[in-house]
Amino acid sequence: MRLQGRTALITGAGSGIGRATAELFASEGAGVAILDRDAPAAEAAASAISATGAEAHPVVADVSSPDEMFRAVARSARLLGRLDIVFNNAGVAPSGSVLDADEDEWDRCFAVNVKGTYLTSRAAIPHLQAAGGGSIINQASVAALVGMANFSAYSAAKGAVVSLTRAMAIDLAPMGIRVNALCPGAVHTPIMEPLMRNQGGGSVERGLELTAAKHPIGRLGTPMEIAATALFLASDDAAFVTGAILPVDGGRTAQ
Ligand SMILES: NC(=O)c1ccc[n+]([C@@H]2O[C@H](COP(=O)([O-])OP(=O)(O)OC[C@H]3O[C@@H](n4cnc5c(N)ncnc54)[C@H](O)[C@@H]3O)[C@@H](O)[C@H]2O)c1
Repeated sequence: MRLQGRTALITGAGSGIGRATAELFASEGAGVAILDRDAPAAEAAASAISATGAEAHPVVADVSSPDEMFRAVARSARLLGRLDIVFNNAGVAPSGSVLDADEDEWDRCFAVNVKGTYLTSRAAIPHLQAAGGGSIINQASVAALVGMANFSAYSAAKGAVVSLTRAMAIDLAPMGIRVNALCPGAVHTPIMEPLMRNQGGGSVERGLELTAAKHPIGRLGTPMEIAATALFLASDDAAFVTGAILPVDGGRTAQ
């Protein structure tokens, strides 16, 4: 029970990596706020966790909206009683090179992945301070560390998340708040489907095979493997870890 007595706000927790992290944190003793813009997904995740006897609350908001996030973070802290951990995980991943990326999707990619991280953290920091400090985990990607074909806006946005993580780590260290980033390799979740279809020439299965082969471990990661590293960063095991950019990628960026 590495998070006994702690609480966590996890964005994008209605699906994939965020939901797995909410389940893992709850199984380690944390109360969790399941924030997602997809209300049925947030409610389904929260009720599955509540059914195990843990504390979980669905919170519906769009991380790119300043007003919604102030309200949603305040509501999460009120429901949970305190706030110790924030996982800025909500993301979107549009395909496209600089030549053919859709301009509106480019803006949306930065609004959700980068500005959403800023807005969520800004709203949460006073609550973390009130709890005596805490841990912020930002969800980046291997796309922040190596070039990836057809992923221009996403790579740029996740690169910004990495830089923002370092800046936040320095600014927030005096407040006892640690800030770290995860850089996952490929994990099969709904966000990956369009990209996999594209890379597999119309076949998601072929795209997944080709992508798995790019990872020296020879397979994709699982949501729970990414959640396990978020648990490490959230817990006191990482008490001296801040400003770290941690690849969780089966060796993808070691090549
Ligand atoms: N799956 C991968 O291979 C992979 C690899 C590296 C990084 N990531 C990152 O991990 C994070 C989670 O992705 P996932 O793979 O679990 O995908 P997913 O599609 O399963 O989950 C993403 C969740 O974020 C929510 N969301 C999207 N925009 C939102 C917004 N504006 N406000 C609130 N919620 C919003 C969605 O509703 C969804 O529930 C993303 O930041 C993604 O970029 C994923």
